[in-house]
Amino acid sequence: MTASKRQAESKPVVLVCRRLLPAGRERLEARCEIRDGGLEASPEDLLALAPGAAAIVADPTVPVEEELLDAAGERLRVVANYAVGYDNVDLDACRRRGVAVTNTPGVLTNATAELALALTLAAARRMSEAEAALRNGRWAGWDPGDLLGLELSGATFGVVGMGRIGRRYAELVTPLAGAILYTSRSPKRDVERDLGASRVTTEELLAGADVVSLHVPASPETVGLIGANELEAMRPHAILVNTARGPLVDAGALARALREDVIGGAGLDVYENEPEVPPELRNAPRCVLLPHIGSATTRARDAMAVLVADNVLAVLDGTEPPNRVV
Ligand code: NAP
Ligand code: GLV
Repeated sequence: MTASKRQAESKPVVLVCRRLLPAGRERLEARCEIRDGGLEASPEDLLALAPGAAAIVADPTVPVEEELLDAAGERLRVVANYAVGYDNVDLDACRRRGVAVTNTPGVLTNATAELALALTLAAARRMSEAEAALRNGRWAGWDPGDLLGLELSGATFGVVGMGRIGRRYAELVTPLAGAILYTSRSPKRDVERDLGASRVTTEELLAGADVVSLHVPASPETVGLIGANELEAMRPHAILVNTARGPLVDAGALARALREDVIGGAGLDVYENEPEVPPELRNAPRCVLLPHIGSATTRARDAMAVLVADNVLAVLDGTEPPNRVV
């Protein structure tokens, strides 16, 4: 058999940079050779595994930049991100090489919005502090002045980014909300009609909301969206919730704002340099910290894995992938 025939008959290589759950992995295994980086893979490990890959399965923790794309070489056809956000992927570098980029929208919308709601309630009622006090033996019994929080019935909710997750969050808080304010690049007439939400400027949202929940992607326009000035503009009892991306919020400014009672509390699922969490945030009062688990339900993560596989196989088959970004 000639080398070119052997190559044509061999299975395409898929580099799974970290981990793909069986719901998607099994679909790929039937038709592809899988090379696993594993959860501990370093950038150097991935460079060593990449040559000859037709597909790269990445996730928010894996930067997909020139070097990795070059290491994969000319057979590379698709970068399939195991996430809806794709700020870890250099889209221009993929475009220049004619490499498709895909993501996993929709199937994690509800899970992530539910986690944003959980963080909202947990931060408003100071659940992390309260549980830590109990577990550490510091609970001295019922105290009418201890651990007082914010009651959410009748509150004004501010949704920054009225996309899929922002809208689902707005739906979930509707039974509690006195009002819903939102910002978005484009007006969302359906949300205004169905939920009575009002589109406002960022300044109006920060000044008027009791809860500010972030749902925009990380991009050059949104990085640093919430800094010291924006925190100062929020109401003194207001809660900031971030399930979107760490770089949207200046972590140092947020820790200071919590220490100095500029805002009421915060609930965070995402950080700028994950898995690092800035020590000043770890030590900040009235702050609930979760380890990027927005989409971490079995239903969502399995459905995301299926989408990853469907996107990879579609590109390898020369058809349009269901979730093309580039
Ligand atoms: P989406 O449907 O695309 O919604 C994004 C929204 O942000 C849209 O309404 C968009 O406005 C708005 N937007 C984008 N850029 C903006 C800008 N520069 N200024 C103002 N608004 C802007 O995305 P999604 O599915 O809801 O996901 C949102 C983000 O959540 C993802 O990108 C990801 O970073 C994060 N996420 C995190 C987790 C987690 O585990 N914590 C899980 C899933 C997603 P238009 O509609 O006008 O374009
Ligand atoms: C997770 O962070 C995602 O963007 O899906």
